[in-house]
Amino acid sequence: MGIGGERKFLKMPTRRKNLVETRDLTYSYPDGTQALDRVSLIVKEGESVGIIGPNGAGKSTLLLHLNGILGHNRSVWVSGMELNRANLKEVRRKVGIIFQNPDDQLFCPTVFDDVAFGPRNLRIPEDEVARRVKRSLEAVGLAGFEERSAFHLSFGQKKRVAIATVLPMEPELLVIDEPSSNLDPGGRRSIIQLLRDLGGTQIIVSHDLDLVSQLCHRVIILNNGRKITEGTTQEILRDQALLKANGLL
Ligand SMILES: Nc1ncnc2c1ncn2[C@@H]1O[C@H](COP(=O)(O)OP(=O)(O)OP(=O)(O)O)[C@@H](O)[C@H]1O
Ligand SMILES: [Mg+2]
Repeated sequence: MGIGGERKFLKMPTRRKNLVETRDLTYSYPDGTQALDRVSLIVKEGESVGIIGPNGAGKSTLLLHLNGILGHNRSVWVSGMELNRANLKEVRRKVGIIFQNPDDQLFCPTVFDDVAFGPRNLRIPEDEVARRVKRSLEAVGLAGFEERSAFHLSFGQKKRVAIATVLPMEPELLVIDEPSSNLDPGGRRSIIQLLRDLGGTQIIVSHDLDLVSQLCHRVIILNNGRKITEGTTQEILRDQALLKANGLL
């Protein structure tokens, strides 16, 4: 079914606490490129929020701020805590980010080590690490891939391993950049199913508006580093003029 058809859109959960908040988040890269300009948003516990916008809008840059990868400039709150140097580790435990490019996430000799990296860092005992790795690989449909090297997997398989790397940390928020890009139709369907099964609070950046319509309660449009608008998935995805004006149709 096309966007804006008679799809049943997800209903927004109500009366939940704010899990993530940005207030006037502004960021320029060291070369002077301004990537974010006063972006304020709130994501509530249990919500799935889509962030859409054209190439270069600032979507990935925004995600990288949610666990302090690009620094912490007093504009991001996670579970009511202002992200700062002192609580960086705690915030990173709560926020699992899956990067746009899985090659940025996978660097160990084996898939097992990649998925075990986070929990080992937390000094979780090795038998519990092994249990979590097994569960995480099963969740992404890659049981039996433990001894393979991620370098030699297909793009879609790497994307799944990248998702698996954040699961053992049991994050409160799952942040995923372009979950369906470069996946074949079957791979895309199973990633959608996986994200739906995982549930919890999610922020999903995607150019795949159909995926967004299936997974997100709410959508935020970003363009030129600015938040253009936000609304329910239904409101935003049915507004063809808005989508066109922002390079999304
Ligand atoms: N490391 C960097 N150094 C300088 N500028 C950067 C860097 N990374 C991104 N930018 C710039 O910041 C802006 C936002 O980039 P970003 O990657 O956040 O966009 P995006 O919305 O994720 O785009 P896409 O849909 O292509 O993934 C762009 O103008 C981009 O050129
Ligand atoms: Mg991006």
